[in-house]
Amino acid sequence: MSARITADVAAARAVLEAGGLVAIPTETVYGLAGDAFRPETVARIFAAKARPHFDPLIVHLADAQQLPRVARDIPDLAWRLAREFWPGPLTMVLPKQEGVPDLVTSGLDTVAVRVPDHPLTTQLLRASGLALAAPSANPFGYLSPTLASHVAEQLGDTIDLILDGGPCRVGVESTIVRVDASGVTLLRPGGISVEQLESVCGSVQTLAPGRHQQPIAPGLLPSHYAPRKPLQLVEDWPSLAERSQLGCLTCEQPAPTGFLACETLPADEHWVGAAAHFFQALHRLDQAPVAGLVAKLFPEQGLGLALNDRLRRAAAPKEP
Ligand code: TXA
Ligand code: MG
Repeated sequence: MSARITADVAAARAVLEAGGLVAIPTETVYGLAGDAFRPETVARIFAAKARPHFDPLIVHLADAQQLPRVARDIPDLAWRLAREFWPGPLTMVLPKQEGVPDLVTSGLDTVAVRVPDHPLTTQLLRASGLALAAPSANPFGYLSPTLASHVAEQLGDTIDLILDGGPCRVGVESTIVRVDASGVTLLRPGGISVEQLESVCGSVQTLAPGRHQQPIAPGLLPSHYAPRKPLQLVEDWPSLAERSQLGCLTCEQPAPTGFLACETLPADEHWVGAAAHFFQALHRLDQAPVAGLVAKLFPEQGLGLALNDRLRRAAAPKEP
């Protein structure tokens, strides 16, 4: 663990301006950021995460006015969504500007872009004027980091600096939508709920899963966001005898008894509190001396959709 952990925005800016990598706090999860317009820096991001090059990165901007730096032919609807949800956990996929390196977009002619909502990262983006390419700051396929210490444990050896902005407020990654002439298509559920999107743009289309050779959003790969221990999704909790080996993630009150470890998430109508603690709880369970994890799916309302998406991928068999 050699990365410097600090809340010093000027230090983070200096590293980024020299082409280095900084883990940045956002309202969703920590990102592993580098200057989006320096291909050699972007290549280091992929290497640090052991991320396959077919999985493109999100570009982070200080504000919506900067959108034309990376995207073109921006539909009115995209501007409307930007006004409504930026800064915030919405990523829009739009036609890309020519100057955006192909490495950032994995050769696609679209770019994913968002304006994050965290005071330190906003300061950093404003002061540096940089567009920051940043995937989540975790090894590819593993649980996303929502604390600076998660980043330090997972990637501390491979990056230069961790900008510590405390726990991530939203706790799940941004919602990704494609915005084009046919309207808004959901590519990944996340911190902005479908209900919130629909209140602005009427209807939201969804993709039939598993249809794509090169995934439109490889966060859609079956196995992703996964703990090291096997996670099983259940409808009923296992027998008391089995529980003594297992860790349990639940929002039931009172929590089921007899598990070796148990994490209880708060239950509210839109599952906002559960999202805020979701990855922290999974990290703790994964580190407990359990043989495996069990969880039940959430009701598919509000952020429950995003949490279930992450749970299903975390439970999916890992590819060889
Ligand atoms: O909340 C978030 O979105 C966090 C923070 C750091 O901003 N970032 C994040 O990045 O979750 P990452 O790399 O873990 O997930 C980004 C997803 C990937 O599944 C990628 O395939 C998709 O965005 N993506 C990127 N560019 C795309 C594009 N042009 N078209 C479709 N999907 C794209
Ligand atoms: Mg990720």
